[in-house]
Amino acid sequence: MNKKELPGKLLLSEDDIQKRIPELAEEIERYYKGKEIVLIGVLRGAFLFMADLIRHLKLPIRVDFMAVTSYGSDTKSSGVVRILKDLDMDIKSKNVLLVEDIIDTGLTLQYLIRNLKTREPESLNICTLLAKENKSRVDIEFTGFHIPRKYVVGYGLDYNEQFRNLRGIYLLDNESTED
Ligand code: PRP
Repeated sequence: MNKKELPGKLLLSEDDIQKRIPELAEEIERYYKGKEIVLIGVLRGAFLFMADLIRHLKLPIRVDFMAVTSYGSDTKSSGVVRILKDLDMDIKSKNVLLVEDIIDTGLTLQYLIRNLKTREPESLNICTLLAKENKSRVDIEFTGFHIPRKYVVGYGLDYNEQFRNLRGIYLLDNESTED
């Protein structure tokens, strides 16, 4: 891609991401010790991370997806979440790993955890590629990278549906820090 078409400064290169994902997969394998897990990808942002992560997992896995959207402006989360696509699978008594691309305010995650717990999984853990420092008290078991409180795009993450196809993660130009 032409440099002019890039959204801003590179934060994590393709190499950074592709080196970290097998490490995360190993952490997950050690944690679950051969047990079957159901990975739930949160669309749309997590689709690339999910695809790369599962190819490194040497565990019996099942895969399902949820699509959610939060009402709010383009770059800020409102905490009001609407389910656009629910799970196809019954997760009762399953070991569930929720796979996110990014945890920002943690509000989407809090909603998803509350919702999924009502379905009585055996266990429920979170794996996110990126985590911004947030004020929520949600425990995240597996985190790829801690990142600054800036708007990021690429590797599945968008700004107005652009940039999801970039192989690295970029700081979006002209976006101020979020607090
Ligand atoms: C992103 C991301 C999380 C959520 C995190 O989704 O995938 O689901 O925001 O934000 P929060 O921690 O502040 O709640 P987004 O709503 O941008 O939708 P998308 O994945 O379809 O791009």
